[in-house]
Amino acid sequence: MSNVTVITIDGPSGTGKGTICCHLAYLMKWNFLDSGALYRVLAIAAKKNQIGNEDELELIELTNNLDVEFKMRNPESMADVLFNGKIVTDEIRTEVCGKAASVIAPIAGVRKALLTRQRAFCKEPGLIADGRDMGTVVFPNAELKIFLTASIDERAKRRFKQLKEGGISVNLRRLHREIEERDERDSGRKLSPLKPADDAIIVDTTDINVEDVIGKISKLVIDKIPNLSKRVVDYLR
Ligand code: DC
Repeated sequence: MSNVTVITIDGPSGTGKGTICCHLAYLMKWNFLDSGALYRVLAIAAKKNQIGNEDELELIELTNNLDVEFKMRNPESMADVLFNGKIVTDEIRTEVCGKAASVIAPIAGVRKALLTRQRAFCKEPGLIADGRDMGTVVFPNAELKIFLTASIDERAKRRFKQLKEGGISVNLRRLHREIEERDERDSGRKLSPLKPADDAIIVDTTDINVEDVIGKISKLVIDKIPNLSKRVVDYLR
C-alpha cells in the first residue's frame, strides 16, 4: 500500500461523519472519499440499468466502470457527488437510496471491486475517508482511525431535522425504525461489518454539537499525525 497519510472516520449514519470529514478535508486541502456515496451511486446505477442484486457479475462490471468524483464546495457544506460528470448529490441522499445501498453492500463481488476503486482515492497530500469499514478493511494502515457513535434516538432526531429543513416530511418513529434496521443490516453482515477497528478512537457524539466534535477531532489530527504542514496546523487550531 502507498505511503500517503490516511485518516479514517467510520460509524453509522447520523453521527455527523459526512459533515466532519468534508470540513476537515476542505480546510486541510486533502482528498476526500465518501465511500457510502459509492454504494449509493451503485445502487442507483443498478436500478437504472435494471440489474438485480442476484446479477453479481453485472454488478461487478458496473462497479469497475463507476465514474464518481467529489467536489468540495465550502467548509460548511457536504461535498457534491458527481456521477458520470453529473451532480447527483440530492438524488443519492434519500432514505430509499440509503436502504438500497445497504442492501447491495453485502455482495462479496461488489465489495471486492469497490476496494480497488476506494483505494484509488488515496493520493498526496493525504486522504480523509468516511464509511463503515475504512479503518478495518479498506485502509487498515491509516495513521488515525476514528469511530463516531451516537444513540439511535439522537441520530433519528438529527436526520428528521435535516429532512424537514430540506422540505421533506417524514415520520420520526418510522425514521427511527429505518435507522435501526439499517444499523442491524450493516453491523450484522459477514463481510466488512460496521465496527470500530481495534486501534480506532471512539468518539460519542450524542451530547456534543458538530462544532465541538470538529474541535475534538482537529486536536486528535494535530496530536497523532506527524509532519503536518504549518498551514494545516494553523487551520485546525
Ligand atoms: O454512509 P451512508 O449512509 O451514505 O452509506 C450507505 C450504505 O452504504 C450503508 O448503509 C452501508 C453501505 N456502506 C458500506 O457497506 N460500507 C461503507 N464503507 C460505506 C457504506
